Amino acid sequence: MSDAWVSFLPGPVPVHPEVSRAFAGPAISHRSAAFHAQMGEVKRRLCDLVVLPNVQILVGSGTLANDAVGAQLSLLPGRGLVLSNGEFGERLIEQAGRFGLAFTPLRSEWGEPLPLDEASQTVEPIEWIWAVHCETSTGVLNDLPRLADLARERGAKLCVDAISSVGNAAVDLSGAWLATATSGKGLAAYPGLGLVFHHDEIAPSPRLPRYLDLGLWAREGGVPFTASSNLLAALERALEIRGAQETQCARLAADLRPRIERLGFSCLAPVESAAPWVLTLLPPAGTNAFVLGERLEAAGFLLSYRSGYLVRRNWLQICLMGEHEASAIGRLVDVLAGWLDTDFVQLPFDLELHQLDRNRQREVDLVVKQAVGRGGVVESGDGDGSGLSRGQAEDQLAAPVRGAVDVVVDRDAVDER
Ligand SMILES: Cc1ncc(COP(=O)(O)O)c(C=O)c1O
Repeated sequence: MSDAWVSFLPGPVPVHPEVSRAFAGPAISHRSAAFHAQMGEVKRRLCDLVVLPNVQILVGSGTLANDAVGAQLSLLPGRGLVLSNGEFGERLIEQAGRFGLAFTPLRSEWGEPLPLDEASQTVEPIEWIWAVHCETSTGVLNDLPRLADLARERGAKLCVDAISSVGNAAVDLSGAWLATATSGKGLAAYPGLGLVFHHDEIAPSPRLPRYLDLGLWAREGGVPFTASSNLLAALERALEIRGAQETQCARLAADLRPRIERLGFSCLAPVESAAPWVLTLLPPAGTNAFVLGERLEAAGFLLSYRSGYLVRRNWLQICLMGEHEASAIGRLVDVLAGWLDTDFVQLPFDLELHQLDRNRQREVDLVVKQAVGRGGVVESGDGDGSGLSRGQAEDQLAAPVRGAVDVVVDRDAVDER
């Protein structure tokens, strides 16, 4: 990534120059006293921040931190609930499934609140509940106090994916049994450290893979394996200088939402349940979010628009995590306003169905329907039989656009992760 871009991504996020400087220092041994002292200090700051007594700092991303939670849940004998109202709730369901956990998934529509009433009415005894705090895909900030109440009422252990909330606002996780965060989002350091907070002491378990055994991490003073002193130093500096950045982002976000709405964008999350630092946007009618994202990138602004779940829904995101300046946001709004004044809204649909939906006919249908609804341009797969053939795609297109099918293929542009 070049400095020429202004990043509004949900990660990696823009970092303070002092964080970059801390990262660039010499790597020191994870066995050294200096490293252990630094680890202790970072842990103390993190625990104070979220009001939980323990944290393990794994080298990896948020998904690894959530897998460490799944591993602990696999040691519990009872059933659980996994609540979902977006992409990252779905990933928890998927991760729970991979661990073979006994659980009931409870879902609500993307953009809606979590199904907490339904969860409180389930009759089976439950031992644990797992849910996302800030649902990054939609920008909905789920109701953490209500989740904690629910867990208390049901006598269940609460596990919270707070990966895109911690650091962006005050987050009190004291009602959680386990909770996850990362270095590279709201904490405004570099990606690469997965944080797992725990309320109770955890004993090692020989049943778990070594790296996922939080009890082993705790027993070894938080440094059982090779660690990155550079990532830790950057996180320490970010924690030392944070505060002003959190307030600045909240102010900028409150200002940005009405300006963006005035341009004809709709924000998916209603303001009362929105996480201000994630704006998931439905562009003005007729505008293709992916094309808009590409154009903005060419103009120097990095927004989130490549993930498959965004492309399929024609959404894009402006995120304000990390270090941001009002002037850059003003430039972004000005550029958008200029384009929307012209014929930008007439941009055609550039979709590559084969890449998007290999082996997933249901999703293909959805994309085709979206394309048809918007009078868009559709291109089929390469005819190897695993994607939607051009003929099939055309058959599913409404008659008025059938003749307008054109070819626009960019296989590598969509990120299916
Ligand atoms: C809420 C949430 N959970 C989990 C993840 C997965 O984190 P990672 O991509 O760092 O593995 C993300 C990433 O954006 C997220 O926002």
